[in-house]
This record gives sequence, C-alpha cells and structure tokens, in this order.
Amino acid sequence: MKTLIVYSTTHGCTEKTAIKIKEFLKEDTILVNLKENSNPELDNFERVIIGGSIHAGQIQKRVKVFCQTNLQELKSKELGLFICCMEDGETAQKQLLDAFPNELHEFAKTSAYLGGEFDFERMNFFQQLIVKKVAHVKESTSTVNDISIRKFSRQMTTIFNPFLFLV
Ligand SMILES: Cc1cc2nc3c(=O)[nH]c(=O)nc-3n(C[C@H](O)[C@H](O)[C@H](O)COP(=O)(O)O)c2cc1C
Repeated sequence: MKTLIVYSTTHGCTEKTAIKIKEFLKEDTILVNLKENSNPELDNFERVIIGGSIHAGQIQKRVKVFCQTNLQELKSKELGLFICCMEDGETAQKQLLDAFPNELHEFAKTSAYLGGEFDFERMNFFQQLIVKKVAHVKESTSTVNDISIRKFSRQMTTIFNPFLFLV
C-alpha cells in the first residue's frame, strides 16, 4: 500500500521518528516535511500518517493547517496520527487528542505519542532557558520509544479480518 508520512519538526525528533516508521513499514513510503511542502498531493496514497511535536502544549501550526485543509480527503484514507513530546501518561494523551481534529481521531486507524527528546544543541537560548526552568532538565535527553514506534507501525499495517470472530 502506498503510504505518505507528513510531518513537522522543530528540532529533528519528529523527523527521526517518521524515518523509523518508514523503516518499520517496509512498504512504498514517501516522507514529506510540511516546512518544505505545506500541502502535498494526497491522490496517489491510500495510507496517510501525520506527525508533529508539542511545544507549550500545541502541535505545530503547519500540522493544524494541513489537517484542516485536507479534512475531507484524509477521512477517505487509512489514517495514522502521532506526536513527539516529553510528557507522558494523561498529559501526553490529552496533548495527542488536542493536536488533531476530533473528526480525524474518529477515522484514524491508530494514534500514539511516541516519546521525545530535548536536544540542547538545536535549541536557542530562550528554549534552553524554558526547558531548564519548566522541565528542570539541563542536558540533552531522549525518551523516544522504539517499541512504541514499532507497535504504531504494526497497527498501521494490520488488516482487520471480521471472519476471525467466527472461528
Ligand atoms: C520550548 C519547548 C517547549 C516544549 N513544550 C512541551 C510541552 O508543552 N509538552 C510536551 O510534552 N513536550 C514539550 N516539549 C518537548 C518537545 O515536544 C520534544 O522536545 C519533542 O521531541 C520535539 O520534537 P521535534 O524535535 O520534532 O520538534 C517542549 C520542548 C521545547 C524545546
């Protein structure tokens, strides 16, 4: 199945995660960074995966605009949604819910938060200050979770077979 992964990344974590998903899918998969192409053509793809990262509780505006612009067409695709973030548990789950329109959550085959990283080398002075003050983190760290990424990728490719219930 032809798959498009569209993503937005601020410091590179979501991009690395999107690349890992592509590797796990092992199928015909194209990656598009919304910064380089804000509205890629969807016609050729049966499956679309959308990813972004959370800063101050919000996903990138580019992701929101892409979702709103293509809302109807996205509902006709096999859809996956993911975020990268440093929160965990209920907060991460709420960030995931808020990141994408309800209509897309309803249609999505799977959605997940897949961990995140604080990369001090790629943050500007103010971002470093915020992370030190708010998250009390002083050096680069990663919670990117390969097991969750593999699970997300597997769920995307799982074929639902209603006849299994009859066996
Ligand atoms: C300034 C700043 C604010 C952040 N705010 C949040 C936040 O509100 N919630 C959260 O879970 N993670 C937050 N993060 C962590 C990012 O989501 C994490 O670094 C993510 O991996 C970034 O992905 P990216 O490199 O693709 O942009 C913040 C990070 C920075 C640098």
